Amino acid sequence: MSRTTRADSRAGLGATIGEDAVRIVEVGPRDGLQNERVFVSTATKINFVAALAESGLRDIEVSSFVHPQAVPQLRDAEDVFNGISRLPGVRYSALVPNMHGLERALACELDEIAVFTGSTDSFVGKNIRMTVAESLERFAPVLPAALAAGLTVRGYVSTAFGCPYEGEVSPEQGIRVAEALLAMGCREISIGDTIGVATPGAVLRWLDAAEGRLPFDRLAMHFHDTRGVALANVMTAISRGLRVFDSCAGGLGGCPYAPGASGNLATEDLVYALHGSGMQTGVDLDKIVRASRMIAVELDHGLPGRYFQAARVNAALELIKPH
Ligand code: HMG
Ligand code: MG
Repeated sequence: MSRTTRADSRAGLGATIGEDAVRIVEVGPRDGLQNERVFVSTATKINFVAALAESGLRDIEVSSFVHPQAVPQLRDAEDVFNGISRLPGVRYSALVPNMHGLERALACELDEIAVFTGSTDSFVGKNIRMTVAESLERFAPVLPAALAAGLTVRGYVSTAFGCPYEGEVSPEQGIRVAEALLAMGCREISIGDTIGVATPGAVLRWLDAAEGRLPFDRLAMHFHDTRGVALANVMTAISRGLRVFDSCAGGLGGCPYAPGASGNLATEDLVYALHGSGMQTGVDLDKIVRASRMIAVELDHGLPGRYFQAARVNAALELIKPH
């Protein structure tokens, strides 16, 4: 593995995605770990990121530059970034909530930051202690400073399908926030189903409402698999032309400020379903399983990803190739 400069590793990052290709944004090291009680050692996090990059994933959210007391698990963000060997063509990113976070990020080597807000004031208030409108004001100086430093910026709109505090959320609430983030200079917006309540019907309704207002080729979707329909939601979004999805190796995940938010859609399940449907991801499924296993040994519980579990059972039978 070679160490490269930020500019070298960026070559090819803007490549267009073909009709039958999906780009997976691996959020395991960040969203996957942020809610874990047991502190995963910095060395394991570094090895996890390396294993994910080796599997062919080209977008990896490594950590968060947030308040260490808000998310103690990610308090070693600087050490993780300083420890990783960068693979060319991989975009390494981190969450940044404010200028303080950006300053910390700029002291490290990374390609992208992600600013994060939501559709509802209650969730955003608990998560980052401000309203949605205040969060956009807080990001206003962050975007130009990040762009001037040569980084790209991703935006998250959480609670797009439902809020743990306010219940049902109309598509309009999230669409307006996504429009604002795009206008501020975000490269891509990830629409978050933070508590895993979306269904294929809700995804269609959301995208119907967004059509003509948000460019679908700059939208990603981020599903938590709380109710077992994350994969159905992805396939529905694909039918409407979306090609970028967030997922977590092994189905790790959850948000400490969203009660009941369980694991994200597992990367293995996503890759298995996509490959079996004739779509390309550039990801080696067996290598993702190996990366998940590396994390699983440090946690105090098993991983929920279905392919990951089946791979364990079927390894001896050699039945784990997608078909
Ligand atoms: P605050 O208390 O309002 O911050 O927290 P503040 O600006 O008033 O500053 C208070 C103190 O925090 C000061 O220190 C600052 O320096 C310090 P003091 O002067 O008292 O010693 N501070 C910081 N320290 C380190 N890094 C920083 C930073 N900023 C201020 N960046 C804040 C506001 C946003 C900082 C806090 O609430 C926070 O860090 N929240 C992060 C919560 C989080 O990470 N949640 C999980 C991610 S979101 C998610 O999971 C959803 C997603 O996956 C999509 C989906 O599923 O929908 C993305
Ligand atoms: Mg999430």
